[in-house]
Amino acid sequence: MPNHQPETIVITGASGGIGQALLNLLAEHYPNAQITATYRSTASLAQQQTNGTIRWQVLDLTDAQAVDQFARGFKRVDWLINCAGLLHQDDHGPEKSIRQFDSDFFLHNIQINTLPTLLLSQAFSGALKNSPQGVFASLSARVGSIGDNRLGGWYSYRISKAALNMAIKTLAIEWQRSHKNVCVAALHPGTTDTELSKPFQRNVPVDKLFTPQQSAGYLLQVIQGLSAENSGHLWAWDGHTIPW
Ligand SMILES: NC(=O)c1ccc[n+]([C@@H]2O[C@H](COP(=O)([O-])OP(=O)(O)OC[C@H]3O[C@@H](n4cnc5c(N)ncnc54)[C@H](OP(=O)(O)O)[C@@H]3O)[C@@H](O)[C@H]2O)c1
Repeated sequence: MPNHQPETIVITGASGGIGQALLNLLAEHYPNAQITATYRSTASLAQQQTNGTIRWQVLDLTDAQAVDQFARGFKRVDWLINCAGLLHQDDHGPEKSIRQFDSDFFLHNIQINTLPTLLLSQAFSGALKNSPQGVFASLSARVGSIGDNRLGGWYSYRISKAALNMAIKTLAIEWQRSHKNVCVAALHPGTTDTELSKPFQRNVPVDKLFTPQQSAGYLLQVIQGLSAENSGHLWAWDGHTIPW
């Protein structure tokens, strides 16, 4: 049965381009829901418009103890959507060739793109199990699909998202047995105009570059259609599944 009326929503990485747009849309669509949004840095907190229905909390998603502590505040969570991610940093961009591979940058990608999903699912296992129709979703990327990899390059990002996809698939199998009401999903938002994609937008046709609001609208439609019966897939913004 499609999932329509969440009462408790947690959105992590909510200070990012897509996270913030999705947060605003969720607050608009579900004014009676309790929404908790997390951010990492104070700089991004300063940019946030606060809204009466949203509770903001600082959280470093790579800190297992902090994630566990945060999760203890919830008895039941209906939707947990993780929007954190990393593609580039000041001194490193995605690799064009294996010659540019750097182990620290690679591990940082794993830390931000893969680890949080594992820590969140572990910490929120009980709270999601208490939902009559739970959704645990993490923003992944089409480039993390092994089957869909035609261009190569971007080793660290691709590998960290492929690992995230495997985490989602494995968790979906486990929770099909233990969390019968929960859907586990990886979501591809489409190329979206945010800080993450800014340096790489040159070759993207205008109609293929979404605003964060557009992308959030598409993602919400996908999330609303999720149910425990269709757990364990990588969904694109248009509602189609992408091969792993
Ligand atoms: N934009 C695109 O075209 C595109 C395409 C495909 C997939 N995606 C995926 O969509 C997701 C959102 O991307 P976006 O474009 O919205 O990126 P963004 O604007 O750069 O936002 C990234 C978010 O991740 C958070 N974050 C990074 N490290 C964190 C940590 N250790 N703990 C907590 N939060 C952390 C950032 O928090 P701070 O601001 O506090 O650092 C920020 O809120 C990512 O997973 C990305 O891979 C994006």
